[in-house]
Parts: sequence; structure tokens; C-alpha cells
Amino acid sequence: MIEVKEIVKKYGDKTVLDKISLSVERGEIVLIEGESGVGKTTLLNIISGIDLPDEGSVFIDGKNIVKMSEDERAKLRLNMIGIIFQTYNLIEELNVEENIALPLRLAGKKWKEKVEELMEFLDISDLKGKRINMLSGGERQRVAIARALANDPRIILADEPTSNLDDRNTERVIEIFRRIREKYNATIVIASHDPRIVKFIDKKYLLENGKLMPYGDR
Ligand SMILES: Nc1ncnc2c1ncn2[C@@H]1O[C@H](COP(=O)(O)OP(=O)(O)OP(=O)(O)O)[C@@H](O)[C@H]1O
Ligand SMILES: [Mg+2]
Repeated sequence: MIEVKEIVKKYGDKTVLDKISLSVERGEIVLIEGESGVGKTTLLNIISGIDLPDEGSVFIDGKNIVKMSEDERAKLRLNMIGIIFQTYNLIEELNVEENIALPLRLAGKKWKEKVEELMEFLDISDLKGKRINMLSGGERQRVAIARALANDPRIILADEPTSNLDDRNTERVIEIFRRIREKYNATIVIASHDPRIVKFIDKKYLLENGKLMPYGDR
């Protein structure tokens, strides 16, 4: 489903990702760990095609997204990939419901019922009409998660998705990931340090010094 091949990413003279390869099967849940600044977000951004590598290729469902046009990548993201950004990237001018509905509306789908369902599951129904700047960190994070899941993506890229959540909400997020995997055989890549996440993943990798290594069993 995801095939990263010999990716190199440099910022100035610093090589953040040094020929990294990663292959994630359909239905697999993979965790990427590593200290702050090692390049976890950079790697996720390259997998989603938000960023381009200096070298290497990224195959999503057999297609090399590095070779696509910006428009093609945006379309593929909208239809196939749900991204939970580390910094949420919610739209401040829109309320909670509108933020979650956005990917559905962009894809020209019905949204009302789906948005209700997601808000209920993430326990944010009461926040429906609130503007983003009125929300707490954990509330924003749950809105960001709901938005990422709105289009029933086949691939979920989650950057520290539980960093601001208490145990109860972390359980809910894990539960919703599980359900999506079951229902759609979705592929999930999570960058996280959260020990609460480790329980439900299939494979773990450590990113260090520009290299990605498989590491430990569960
Ligand atoms: N646009 C950019 N321009 C220059 N340097 C960048 C840019 N984006 C990231 N970097 C650098 O690349 C390195 C990797 O950053 P990245 O955000 O991928 O780390 P991370 O592993 O996600 O860290 P954290 O756990 O703190 O989120 C860092 O040293 C960062 O300063
Ligand atoms: Mg990061």
C-alpha cells in the first residue's frame, strides 16, 4: 500500500532522511518512534506528498507520487489519505462541524450524518458550532482526528495523534483506528512516543540519524 524507496531529504547541509525505505502492507498499523527533530514529521509529509524528497520514490497503491503533478497529488490525498497533523492545521475561520465536513464537501459527498457520527464518537458533539480558537488543545486534536477520518481514507497518517489527550480519549482514538482498519482494511502510520499507542500496533520502527530501523516486537 505504501512503498517508500531510498528517500533522501536534506535541509541545507543537514541530511534529515538518509536513504530511508519503508514498506507498509494494506491493513497494517505501523509506529515510527524517534527523538524530537529526527524527521518523523518530514517522513510523514513525504509519504502524503505534502513534501517532496530530494531523492527516492514513494509509491501509494502502486503509483509513484513523486512523479505526479501537484494537482494529482492533492487529489490522491483527498481521496485516499487522512492526515492528522501534529499542529492540527484546523481552519480557524470555520467552526468544528465545518472543519470536519471539509474533506467530504471537497469530495462532493454528503456530510451531515458522517460528521455527526464522528463528533459523537470523539465526544465533541457539544462543540459543533464553536470556533477553533475557543477550543482546548485536546479538543482541537479530536477535531483534527475527526476531519482526517471523514472521507473514510484507506491510508491514515497520524502525527503524534494523542499528544494532548487523556486516557479516555486516547482509548477512543485507538478504538476508532481499529474500527477503520477492520471496516476498510486501512493502513495506518503513526509517529508517536505515546506508550499507550504501542499496544495495538503491528510493527515498530525507530528513526535515528537519518535511518529507519525495525525495532522490537510490539
Ligand atoms: N522546512 C524546514 N526547513 C528547514 N529545516 C526543517 C524544515 N522542516 C524541518 N526541518 C528540520 O528537520 C529536522 C526534522 O524535523 P521534523 O519536524 O521532521 O522532526 P520530528 O521528528 O517530527 O520532531 P518532533 O518529535 O519534535 O515533532 C529538524 O531538525 C528540523 O529543524
Ligand atoms: Mg514532528
